[in-house]
Amino acid sequence: MAKRKLIYDCDPGHDDAVALTLAAGSPELELLGVTVVAGNQTLDNTVRNACHVLQWLGREEVTVYGGCGRPMVRDRVTAGDIHGKTGLDGPVFPPLRKTPEQEHAVSFLIRALLASDGDVVVVTSGPMTNLAMALRMNPEIAGKIQRIVLMGGSCTNGNVTPAAEFNILADPEAAHICFTSGRPITMIGLDVTRKVLCYPEIVERMARADTRASRLFVDLMGHFCKTQKEVFGWEGGPLHDPVTIASLLDPALVTVKPMNVRIDLSHGDSYGRTNCDCFGYLGLPATADVAVDIDVGRFWDIIETGLRRYD
Ligand code: BDR
Ligand code: CA
Repeated sequence: MAKRKLIYDCDPGHDDAVALTLAAGSPELELLGVTVVAGNQTLDNTVRNACHVLQWLGREEVTVYGGCGRPMVRDRVTAGDIHGKTGLDGPVFPPLRKTPEQEHAVSFLIRALLASDGDVVVVTSGPMTNLAMALRMNPEIAGKIQRIVLMGGSCTNGNVTPAAEFNILADPEAAHICFTSGRPITMIGLDVTRKVLCYPEIVERMARADTRASRLFVDLMGHFCKTQKEVFGWEGGPLHDPVTIASLLDPALVTVKPMNVRIDLSHGDSYGRTNCDCFGYLGLPATADVAVDIDVGRFWDIIETGLRRYD
């Protein structure tokens, strides 16, 4: 079967790092490049983290492109309370040899998409700044995006404010541009990612795989689950970002419902909220496929398979 072409845009981030592990190791996917954005930490940190993860996994040939260091309109926000000072606190990596490409992530997105046959999925698991900027700079790329799959948003509560989820709140205007690009879009929000809680028994299960990827997973979850407990009281950290990549590997993993979604750009209390018209009250056309359920057992099987792909 032909491999699914993918550009992965992220802000590593512990859960981004696990998603990157899946994306870089899955034979079903052709990872064209990794574009990095500021989000969980500053751009310097998130780019370095992406390089560290790929080097650790022995996938140094995967190209990394640094992108936007700031959101389009609002002031920058980071998530140091969850991901630490480096954005990837916990694992101790060997000295970094891998370097990012010189080309800017936005230029790479435009170049790679224009050169494609319209068969590239763009997955984002950070603020959507890079993709939005690419869409603004060259609107022709929209026709080349097969689908946008994002981790972000929520039909109900947020996780940074009562209304907003981090990736959308960190750049609501960028999310608005992507959601109105006219391309098929799958929104994987907190409604499903808060169902995949990484309890201690899951960490123990993954540790038994005993690969370099599973050792990284254990170190990542050591920090991530601790801060998730401190901030939210969860007994296991919600493994948000890998749901995006896992949903490409198994299209039946998440149940989606088409609905009209609008991003709140009011700069008020609900700034960054994804207003999801779950019941079709507004009578407006559906604009996104919103994930409403997930097969939790299947998700952990996909994670384990992904970790076992490495030595
Ligand atoms: C999202 O916010 C970030 O902190 C995580 O990496 C994830 O992408 C969850 O709201
Ligand atoms: Ca992320």
